[in-house]
Amino acid sequence: MKKRLTRAWALMLIVIFLPQLSISEITIRLSHVAPNSGHPKGDAAVLLAKRVNEEMVGKVNMKVYPNGSLFGDNVVLEEMLKGNVEMAIPSLSQLESYTTKFRVFDLPFLFKNIEIVDTFQKSQTGQELLKSMESKGLIGLQFWHNGMKQISANKPISLPKDVEGLRFRIQPSEVIKAQFSALGATSKVIPYNKVFDSLRSGEVDGQENTWSNIYTKKFHITQDGITESNHGVLDYIVVTSADFWYGLSEDIREQLSTILAEVTEESNGKSLSSNQESRQNILDAGVEIRELTESQRSVWVRAMAPVWNRFARDIGNDLLQAAINSAEK
Ligand code: LMR
Repeated sequence: MKKRLTRAWALMLIVIFLPQLSISEITIRLSHVAPNSGHPKGDAAVLLAKRVNEEMVGKVNMKVYPNGSLFGDNVVLEEMLKGNVEMAIPSLSQLESYTTKFRVFDLPFLFKNIEIVDTFQKSQTGQELLKSMESKGLIGLQFWHNGMKQISANKPISLPKDVEGLRFRIQPSEVIKAQFSALGATSKVIPYNKVFDSLRSGEVDGQENTWSNIYTKKFHITQDGITESNHGVLDYIVVTSADFWYGLSEDIREQLSTILAEVTEESNGKSLSSNQESRQNILDAGVEIRELTESQRSVWVRAMAPVWNRFARDIGNDLLQAAINSAEK
């Protein structure tokens, strides 16, 4: 009788404690620099965490750190390799130290709109790019969209000659640096959360960014209008470390990948309207938006054309050709 009771107790203890011993919840810290709402990346990150936390209860807990509250994009990948953050969504212009392949996205006037960028990213060449940092310990899981970049300064801009001698804030990208020097301007790399202060203090005269970034960070209030140049693209990669990703069990990896793919499809489909909303908000705030005529646009294209030749070799001919083919379709 005593033996049977002891066995019953042991069984009960196993039933109570086994689940806690064997299934420990995985935490994913998701770091980015955009706000939590009203922004293509911020909204997508919130949706991703909501779905993961609802559908993977007890298995995965995702916590979003927006506005660079955990790490800025200038350090987030280093921190990821040290195991201090599990996922991040830097722009494709922030990857220079890991590969020069993503420079293709910074080439001025290559992609006319975000739909073309989407087609290229979904092609085999585009998908292979996600794996291009694996030797450095980083894995791209998906591309997320923001949109096309616009240019502005503390004086009106219509033609390249208007930016001569001005200094622009840039992301850490050699292509973007070369783009501004081709225009006779200078540039300074400044982390995203310092851009507003730099524009306001006059440390730099101008900037280039998407409507949603300009509006949510209030860059427009420091500038003399915004010129709708659509001269380049600002897009993102959802990235994780190989150590973290391959340390997950296969079923967790699969479920996360499925949720991420669905969120990507839904959120990328809304990026254009999100940027259009920000554009309208900037107009409503009384800021002038200067549209370019076809002939003005072709002057910009010609002025920036030398940048392509300079970077073709780093990017690789096949990759560049594949991007051009998508762009021309
Ligand atoms: C920038 O630095 O301008 C962008 O990378 C910010 C962002 O994440 O959109």
